[in-house]
Amino acid sequence: MAQIFVPREIRELEKRVAATPETVKKLVKAGFAVVVERGAGSPAFIGDADFEEAGATFVDSPAEGYGKADLIFKVDAPLESEVEMIKEGAVLITHIVPSNELPLVKQLCARKISTFSMNLVPRITIAQKMDSLSSQASIAGYKAVLLGANALGKYFPLLMTAAGTITPAKVVILGAGVAGLQAIATARRLGATVEASDVRLAVKEQIESLGAKFIMVETDEDMEDQGGYAKEQSEDFLRRQREEVGKRMAQADVVITTALIPGRPAPVLINEDIVKQMPEGSVIVDLAVQQGGNCELAEPGKTVVKHGVTIIGELNLPAMMQVHASQLYARNLLNLVTHIAKEGELVIDLEEPVTDGALLTHDGAVRHEPTKKLLDEGGN
Ligand code: NAI
Repeated sequence: MAQIFVPREIRELEKRVAATPETVKKLVKAGFAVVVERGAGSPAFIGDADFEEAGATFVDSPAEGYGKADLIFKVDAPLESEVEMIKEGAVLITHIVPSNELPLVKQLCARKISTFSMNLVPRITIAQKMDSLSSQASIAGYKAVLLGANALGKYFPLLMTAAGTITPAKVVILGAGVAGLQAIATARRLGATVEASDVRLAVKEQIESLGAKFIMVETDEDMEDQGGYAKEQSEDFLRRQREEVGKRMAQADVVITTALIPGRPAPVLINEDIVKQMPEGSVIVDLAVQQGGNCELAEPGKTVVKHGVTIIGELNLPAMMQVHASQLYARNLLNLVTHIAKEGELVIDLEEPVTDGALLTHDGAVRHEPTKKLLDEGGN
């Protein structure tokens, strides 16, 4: 019977946990033994007693858990000290952006750990229920609107009061992927008027169906790759987009930015000039800040005020909603494991499409071609 270990997450700001009593129960039923580090669930308000009732057993120290586990469930990429504790040949399932973590990838290879990166799970129909990029991005989009609304000294909805009418807040959303669409829906539910921009024309209909207006930037450039992701745009396009979107931002109360290009730094959509034109008291929430930021004045992990505009660059928004974020992430992991396991044993079948896409390191080698290339080029 394979043993799964669920450690307490130790990175700063992290409050999520990679299993819940609901998923533990199902994993035990599927034939796994689940070992939880005592207290692992407490930042997400899950007590040890709840895990115990679901069928988990406990260890008091991470070393004890890592040392015996065949399979490790994590939220964040492990620190070097955590990898040192993992048994050689074990399977690790976690969020890891390989291009940002090359030394860690090397260490995982050296220790012959098979790593499934949740960031590499292919966006194919059978893998939708394992797609933690989507489950967590949706939470980030929702929370970003709440942070923006909270920092704004205004109402969001139209209000007709005895003291007169309040006009609805104007919200602009840049990037309408999973996070952006949830941000649009949330801002609309709060009653704001919303305009949104994306380079993929396919999202125009989705934006409009949520009651927002699509900001069109005319172009002949091909903006979408074969996987449905945005391609890196030319400087000319970005300049025209800044002009077009800048006009809207000069009137906006809240701007939420979520624009990303896989494997590349985030495109700069808001420069200092645009911030200067925005109304005093308006708010920018930059969800792309960890990838370099869509707003050039955003600072990772900080809220700053520049030219009278509050710029929120908080990191790890899903961890601010740790209860539902853990619930959904834990289900994503459960679905991945039960997809690739047979009778309580994990079967690594390199031909299987989800394994083929998500398995980053295996048998002492890097399997993900772009990461292999970066390492061959001497990346660190
Ligand atoms: P992402 O997090 O990589 O990027 C966010 C958004 O930023 C994207 O919509 C992208 O087009 C946009 N963007 C890039 N440059 C921009 C610019 N200069 N201005 C404005 N917007 C810009 O994207 P996410 O949320 O991961 O989704 C990417 C794709 O994956 C989408 O096509 C989505 O529909 C698809 N998807 C497919 C799933 C499936 O299971 N089939 C599940 C989830 C997403």
